[in-house]
Amino acid sequence: MNAPVMQGLTLNTPSYVKNARLIAWVADMVALCKPAAVHWCDGSQTEYDQLCEGMVASGTLKRLNPAKRANSYLACSDPSDVARVEDRTYICSEHKENAGPTNNWMAPAEMRATLQPLFDGCMAGRTMYVVPFSMGPLGSPIAHIGIELSDSPYVAVNMKIMTRMGKAVFDVLGTDGDFVPCVHTVGAPLAQGQADVAWPCNPKVKYIVHYPETREIWSYGSGYGGNALLGKKCFALRIASNMGRDQGWLAEHMLILGVTNPEGKKYHVAAAFPSACGKTNFAMLIPPQALNGWKVTTIGDDIAWIKPRKDASGKTRLFAINPEAGYFGVAPGTNTLTNPNCMASLDKDVIFTNVALTDDCDVWWEGMGEAPAHAIDWQGKDWTPELAKETGAKAAHPNARFTVASTNNPALDSAWDDPAGVPIDAFIFGGRRSTTVPLVTEARNWVEGVYMAATMGSETTAAAFGAQGVVRRDPFAMLPFTGYNMSDYFQHWLTMGERLQADGAQLPAIYCVNWFRKGADGKFVWPGYGENMRVLKWMIDRLEGSVAGTETMFGTSPTYGEITWSGLDFSQAQFDSVTSIDKAAWQQELVLHTELFNQLAYHLPKELEETKARLEDRLNA
Ligand code: GTP
Ligand code: SPV
Ligand code: MN
Repeated sequence: MNAPVMQGLTLNTPSYVKNARLIAWVADMVALCKPAAVHWCDGSQTEYDQLCEGMVASGTLKRLNPAKRANSYLACSDPSDVARVEDRTYICSEHKENAGPTNNWMAPAEMRATLQPLFDGCMAGRTMYVVPFSMGPLGSPIAHIGIELSDSPYVAVNMKIMTRMGKAVFDVLGTDGDFVPCVHTVGAPLAQGQADVAWPCNPKVKYIVHYPETREIWSYGSGYGGNALLGKKCFALRIASNMGRDQGWLAEHMLILGVTNPEGKKYHVAAAFPSACGKTNFAMLIPPQALNGWKVTTIGDDIAWIKPRKDASGKTRLFAINPEAGYFGVAPGTNTLTNPNCMASLDKDVIFTNVALTDDCDVWWEGMGEAPAHAIDWQGKDWTPELAKETGAKAAHPNARFTVASTNNPALDSAWDDPAGVPIDAFIFGGRRSTTVPLVTEARNWVEGVYMAATMGSETTAAAFGAQGVVRRDPFAMLPFTGYNMSDYFQHWLTMGERLQADGAQLPAIYCVNWFRKGADGKFVWPGYGENMRVLKWMIDRLEGSVAGTETMFGTSPTYGEITWSGLDFSQAQFDSVTSIDKAAWQQELVLHTELFNQLAYHLPKELEETKARLEDRLNA
């Protein structure tokens, strides 16, 4: 097969791989990328352990102290490769309008011509890993299969944790099953005899490319997170949002949680917050003592696939699944007080990336608790609390992360793996805003909720490369992840609502939250974390019809008396400071909504313009 190009390299295709399109594609990619070897991943624990051992030997991973973190490792990346690269991320649809003004675009033919020479020989001196994975439970009708070809063993082991990865995927694929082809290279070919570095990547050239029409992903130059673990943002959001638009479902940047009240009644909530704005924390929330009859369980912490379907009683509802199988979560700020369930998840079987290494071979990050007297920071340098005081040096990178299987989470919901999904009772949208946006508002109807989500703003975080702390519009927390025209995406949400209503469905309620208002002292006023349960309880009370709320300019908000305060010292004045609506600030905010709508004018649904006009009228009344 292709012998002259392959230069004697055998594809090593296992006998159980029977999909002709897959075999031909791998052969083509081997011919293009010219790896030194091909390794078909079987997803076994033995394979995982061997790959990790190999990376310990090559210096990519450090094994942590087994007495403190059993079977866990630390990887430290190149300083040029620490987060998603939004400015290098492309949606290459045939027509520019279909990528829309919020995505980088290049014509597919032009992009293919750009990538061809980059991928030619890009895996020289490296092993190509063939990583078969399922997003969603294996073989379930809602799941989709991807095959990632990567020259990074770090990617292969992370994919084992983050997805259902391994041999069984080939059985599901059969001889003619469909898959999304994902090609990934760190973009650092090795010349004969050239020594490798601990974190190979291409510090100069990076491309994260999606072809929505042909459902392909090509990623060049980065080994980090969403740039490289292609099942996550590239597939489960950017490509899947295209599938969802075509097939009548939603692919969203949302956590999914179950919340059970003291009477044992269970609700399900899906919440969209931008990157590093609290999804993992909210999904693992432990209610405060005073609300200890309540229980929160995790279905997912980052991505939701949501489909309409009839429930047992014949009523159409939206059902959500988590297509992932693990968490790639933000480490800094996580501790036993803010997120005890998360800390408990990190006891064993974890891959940490870009946190600090302590002298006893454990990990530490800012906000974990008492600082060690000495550590090795994420860039391999000595770090001490004194140095941090003098220079502001961070031990962990602000976007340092952990990769861990869902099954490590003590609060994992029993239905997390259920192919049927869970019925959604409410959607929550929330940005990181130090001013302007109140603690919680309920939309009065679906269109108003879509408007709130569409116009959401948030201060940028370290999850993406670039400036931090600047407010930008982040519609639905999907700005970097919607794989097509944003206005068409808004229309898709409106259409889904209309269809559900026509089907006699009861639409989920929609809430807008902000945990991040700051006081004059620059500190967060709302205590957040577990205390967010008090806001969640108010939402459930609203669903049950037991509280009326009060009407504001934007929707329905709680009165002070409607929130359960026992066990928390939070005064009416503090409450006012996180719920007040400043007219001047909102007039400014509306200017930003107008800017967004001008940018998105092509195909912008008229319902959203009308909603804005009504809002302006109320504001100016
Ligand atoms: P991605 O994985 O990037 O999509 O992000 P995520 O939304 O899962 O972020 P995560 O839950 O890991 O949030 C991390 C950051 O949010 C940390 O800096 C936390 O300290 C902060 N955070 C989370 N919840 C709260 C909260 O309720 N209040 C405040 N003030 N900060 C919070
Ligand atoms: C995010 O940035 O929203 C993440 C991390 O969840 S990454 O997988 O790198 O995109
Ligand atoms: Mn995310």
